[in-house]
Amino acid sequence: KRKGFIFDLDGVIVDTAKYHFLAWQKLANSIGVEFTHEQNEQLKGVSRVKSLEKILSWGNITLDNEEFTGLMAKKNEDYLLHIEKMDASEILPDVPRVLELLEKQKQGIALGSASKNAEVILQKVHLIQKFSAIIDGNGVTKGKPDPEVFLNAAKALSIAPENCIVFEDATAGIKAANAANMISIGIGDASVLHEADYVFKDFTEISSDFIQELIKK
Ligand code: G6P
Ligand code: MG
Repeated sequence: KRKGFIFDLDGVIVDTAKYHFLAWQKLANSIGVEFTHEQNEQLKGVSRVKSLEKILSWGNITLDNEEFTGLMAKKNEDYLLHIEKMDASEILPDVPRVLELLEKQKQGIALGSASKNAEVILQKVHLIQKFSAIIDGNGVTKGKPDPEVFLNAAKALSIAPENCIVFEDATAGIKAANAANMISIGIGDASVLHEADYVFKDFTEISSDFIQELIKK
């Protein structure tokens, strides 16, 4: 049976959280706000606008629209400088193995990411041709935990939501997948991602047999 496999990008295919951290930290410090790794964790899966809103609230700062837009642009400029240096060596372990397995079995493969930089990153790591549909931060009006991004991906693959499987590293993404009536697979810490149908530390723990079971279901 043809199923739809929808991948989040940041934290699932590549570890860009470290670059988001550097860019947000620089920005936060520039306006006198402290920024820790714990705070960065809370921004996983969260859109750029929502992330800046959170940082400002942590620092008790209010800005006018122009200042807000300026900081958003600055953060992304900085982030893109890190992305610029990315290559295929930054693909997380066994992601290519799983993608190739799905490709061989003629399964639908889509990207469902909150990032507006998703295409650039997929190009940098040479994975863009593996995805027959890319739904990113430019293609949604409501961010995760809203299911919109995954429902749009299912639609683009022409596969019913209940026949889709989502790989996610963020709680907001697992909630979105569950709300979309899809099978949710958490990649990361099981205690954090306890709402997922399945959790694996990373793709090295996902066997071909497990994938076959999902396809047969
Ligand atoms: C992903 C990341 C978030 C990031 C968001 C928007 O969900 O996990 O940390 O804020 O994408 O990314 P962008 O590249 O558009 O700033
Ligand atoms: Mg993610």
